[in-house]
Amino acid sequence: MSASQLIALIPGDGIGPEVIAQARRILEHYRDKRGLNLDLWQLDLGADRYLRDGTTYPKEVAERIAGEARAVLLGALGDPRVPGLEHARDILFGLRFGLDLYANIRPVKALSDRLVPLKGRAAKDVDLVVFRENTEGIYVGMGGQFKRGTKDEIAINEDVNTRKGVERLIRAGFEHARHRGKKSVHMADKSNAMKHAHELWYRCFFEVAKEYPEIKAHHVYVDALCLYLVQDPSPFEVVVTCNLFGDIVTDLGAALQGGLGMAASANVHAADPARVGMFEPVHGSAPPLAGKDLANPLASVLTVGMLLAHIGYPDEEARLEALVARAIEEKKCTRDVGGDLGTRAVGDWILNELGQV
Ligand code: NAD
Ligand code: IPM
Ligand code: MN
Repeated sequence: MSASQLIALIPGDGIGPEVIAQARRILEHYRDKRGLNLDLWQLDLGADRYLRDGTTYPKEVAERIAGEARAVLLGALGDPRVPGLEHARDILFGLRFGLDLYANIRPVKALSDRLVPLKGRAAKDVDLVVFRENTEGIYVGMGGQFKRGTKDEIAINEDVNTRKGVERLIRAGFEHARHRGKKSVHMADKSNAMKHAHELWYRCFFEVAKEYPEIKAHHVYVDALCLYLVQDPSPFEVVVTCNLFGDIVTDLGAALQGGLGMAASANVHAADPARVGMFEPVHGSAPPLAGKDLANPLASVLTVGMLLAHIGYPDEEARLEALVARAIEEKKCTRDVGGDLGTRAVGDWILNELGQV
């Protein structure tokens, strides 16, 4: 038997545990019924744990994930009882930065015409992928506050962009385009306002583009990108952008594919797919939905697909995507996407169908 693949599960906060419970059942199905040698390692990390004993992201866990795991599946982090989000940042950024997962890959793909909210547009018009830089930018936490609480207070967050960091993310976007036969890559920035940081992005983009002559390289300002995505998303295939813009644009993108309950993501060190990856739905912990069996688990189902592709089973990603599309068509889904099932019942349907196909 092949060596087991260690998969760490971090359900986290709010609706995280509910959607990851369904995702876990799928992984168990692959382990128990389809012979995948998966070792599932569930971690008790999140707001409850933090409030209980102060633990956020222990060093031993970080080391085992870095040294032994093939993948991490994360639900969501964020809890109103921890308004400063310190546990969420330690865990989420501990994974993204700590494992150098520089490409946050967020497909924006509508799986049914019914999910597309744009007038006159259909699912075929919404099929792109955003490559979000995931280890730099405004997220590095450099900066500080001065004279806090006074009338003279100053608050600074530095936006860090390195040649290496920008170039490798842009290259990941072009490589993806090349291997998927895509014809174009768009780079979204604000080089008109951010003349230092985004001039680097602009220059670097067109330099890297020269290595991919078969792919058209387009520059677009990120504000205009938001406009175009709503007017007509069909020309977009691959979008590369910085950390902050990628975060924002992919919530907009999620709206085009049926909402946050449908948006999956992968965090990878794209140059070396053998390295551990982290997989998470794009949505957060949705506190108002938590504990009510209302959360849509399909983003997590699609995320499991991305995870399975990463660990060597790309056909299973396609199988899960087709099942999710069918769940939408047959209304075996939650209210946010037009059904009337609960989170767990959607999981039941997926598991049952998975047993048949
Ligand atoms: P959110 O993604 O939790 O919710 C935004 C909207 O989408 C809400 O209306 C919510 O009901 C809906 N929604 C989200 N997921 C859904 C699902 N699976 N099914 C149905 N509807 C769904 O974003 P928010 O409200 O801005 O943030 C809540 C908390 O989550 C905050 O603490 C935030 O920092 C955190 N957050 C964490 C992550 C992460 O862990 N990766 C991502 C985003 C936000
Ligand atoms: C996401 C989230 C996170 C981010 C938050 C929780 C820090 O919005 O994963 O999209 O901004 O990256
Ligand atoms: Mn976000």
